[in-house]
Amino acid sequence: MKPPSEPLLRAGSYCKRFLLTAYLLASMTTSELILVPEYLNKVQGDTLSWRIHGAPTGDVNYTWYRGNESIEGKMLVSYISSLLSWIPGPENTGRENVTDRGFLRITEVEFSDTGNYTVVVASPEGSQEATGWIQVWEKLFQPDITVSQAAVVEYVDIVNFTCHPNNTGDFQIQWYYSYVPVSEDYQWSLSSDNRTLSGWVSRFHHGPYYCQVSNPANSQRSALQNLQIYYGPDSIDMSSIPFFYLGTINAKLGSDVTVYCQTTAQPPCLYRWLLNDTALDVTNSTFSIRTMSWGDVGTYRCIAENPTTQVVLYSTVTLQVHEPPSLSKRPFYTIYKGTVIFLSIGIGLGLLNLIGGFIFYLVSRR
Ligand SMILES: *[C@@H]1O[C@H](CO)[C@@H](O)[C@H](O)[C@H]1NC(C)=O
Ligand SMILES: *[C@@H]1O[C@H](CO)[C@@H](O)[C@H](O)[C@H]1NC(C)=O
Ligand SMILES: *[C@@H]1O[C@H](CO)[C@@H](O)[C@H](O)[C@H]1NC(C)=O
Ligand SMILES: *[C@@H]1O[C@H](CO)[C@@H](O)[C@H](O)[C@H]1NC(C)=O
Ligand SMILES: *[C@@H]1O[C@H](CO)[C@@H](O)[C@H](O)[C@H]1NC(C)=O
Ligand SMILES: *[C@@H]1O[C@H](CO)[C@@H](O)[C@H](O)[C@H]1NC(C)=O
Repeated sequence: MKPPSEPLLRAGSYCKRFLLTAYLLASMTTSELILVPEYLNKVQGDTLSWRIHGAPTGDVNYTWYRGNESIEGKMLVSYISSLLSWIPGPENTGRENVTDRGFLRITEVEFSDTGNYTVVVASPEGSQEATGWIQVWEKLFQPDITVSQAAVVEYVDIVNFTCHPNNTGDFQIQWYYSYVPVSEDYQWSLSSDNRTLSGWVSRFHHGPYYCQVSNPANSQRSALQNLQIYYGPDSIDMSSIPFFYLGTINAKLGSDVTVYCQTTAQPPCLYRWLLNDTALDVTNSTFSIRTMSWGDVGTYRCIAENPTTQVVLYSTVTLQVHEPPSLSKRPFYTIYKGTVIFLSIGIGLGLLNLIGGFIFYLVSRR
């Protein structure tokens, strides 16, 4: 059987409440005597019972000892069935007793109850002995969780989570992100005792995060910790009314023009606008012109800045006056030079044809 680890034993004295597990053991000196641990209430962990299987009944003496040997000085309790009497031994702390079927019961188990227990079952036919091991585990309390910074810049800041167990014994620490265990990888690293989780995050890693302490008998998880994550902008999505084409808005004099500059960022971007490299008094993501005039013509630049991530992006669009099509300047249809010559010849030939036909008609009427 696995012996208890040192820190586990040392931690025993400080805490009143324990859970326990018991390992079935082991060394049986004679035939079929078997010890079976039974947890009456594993969650509260306050009472342990050792059952005996294979023991004779009738005129039997059951005697329990602390340790792996039946040494008089280590006796806990004895039950003499013929006399219906219970005899406490020198190791009895008042929490150990034996039932009339020979089962050992230990109430309010403590950390120091970890160890071997030996029973001797004596009957007129002879005596049998068996030893079993009990492991009492610490009852774990909720650990605390702290984070180096509750707000981080995506891919830039390294965030450290620290787990503060509220126990001193032997336990494991496991980290969880979004209720899924976190292990070391390209993103996360763990301190050797698993108490600190460090890594970078993207905008999607807001949490929740928590740590969990556990031993084979119980576990406790910390409160949930979420992160505020700063990111972006990744791009500017520019649009306008009237719509722009190839970076140019064609708007009629006297009409309204609106330019939209959209970004996705946390915190939201701050906006600035320039017209021909001159700063405008606008800090919205939307720029509006009421009743456009020649003075509004020029190149508009929207500058979006995330003050926290320090990412700055800009996009430009040129506003020009839309000249409505007029017949004098720009005919609705265009006839190319070659076509004109071709048409002229065609019309000329047609005309000749018509004249020829007319002459033929006149001549033939004669
Ligand atoms: C009982 O345990 C002690 C120390 O743990 C060991 O030295 C001894 O050999 C064991 N005795 C038996 C009978 O198993
Ligand atoms: C053990 O249990 C018996 C029967 O319940 C009781 O009479 C006896 O006083 C108990 N002994 C101790 C030490 O608690
Ligand atoms: C049980 O213990 C009593 C008192 O020590 C003793 O008189 C008796 O012989 C024992 N019985 C057996 C079967 O060993
Ligand atoms: C552990 O938690 C318990 C209950 O929450 C509290 O009473 C105790 O003071 C804590 N101990 C430490 C060392 O934080
Ligand atoms: C740390 O966590 C890993 C699993 O993530 C586990 O295998 C290891 O035993 C833990 N170590 C400690 C000291 O808790
Ligand atoms: C901006 O520049 C363009 C081209 O140089 C010019 O036509 C326009 O008048 C300028 N607009 C303003 C408001 O200065």
